[in-house]
Amino acid sequence: MSVKCVEHPLIDHKLSYMRDKNTRPDLFRQLVGEVAMLLAYEVTRDLPLENLSIDTPLETMQAPFLAGKNPCLISILRAGNGLLDGVLQLIPTARVGHVGLYRDPETLIAIEYYFKVPRDLGERLCIVVDPMLATANTAIAAVEKLKQAGAKKIKFLCLLTAPEGVEAFERAHPDIELYTAAIDRQLNDHGYILPGLGDAGDRIFGTQ
Ligand code: URA
Repeated sequence: MSVKCVEHPLIDHKLSYMRDKNTRPDLFRQLVGEVAMLLAYEVTRDLPLENLSIDTPLETMQAPFLAGKNPCLISILRAGNGLLDGVLQLIPTARVGHVGLYRDPETLIAIEYYFKVPRDLGERLCIVVDPMLATANTAIAAVEKLKQAGAKKIKFLCLLTAPEGVEAFERAHPDIELYTAAIDRQLNDHGYILPGLGDAGDRIFGTQ
């Protein structure tokens, strides 16, 4: 696996506002979408193209268009939904699947409660979105399910991760590229990322 920590001043600036505990849910939600869109720009950098003939007002040319089936975004519920709008602004034709997993608060193990994805997953690039890759238990379980469902090309997009999460994910899925805006210092005893930004789902949806 390769981890791509996407470096850009706009991402750093937006992330700092998101980390600030005084940032209100409306701004937090907006920033999540903006950073997701910037990350999606990198995630989609190697999408295949094919040349098709078009007529400009002046002459005919072979112009590059995206080839093959549209990508599929896979949101890990519920915090992943906060990233969807931003990525969909960049790839409006993407399909969207949902995987419901929650972390058992005692064991931190991922438990599945929902799974709905397009049938032809194997013919699409699957971009899994979840803001926080902490222990990576949820991410690992979600990618396992997607592989079982036929997904062949999967990329993982998160906003923040920690070295423990990166290592665990890499061990479980060495074939999957992971894109993140930052790799923070460490996890705390409850599996939260430090310095992090708190509970992403609660901050996106204002449920604290
Ligand atoms: N999930 C979150 O929302 N935040 C963390 O820091 C870790 C997991």
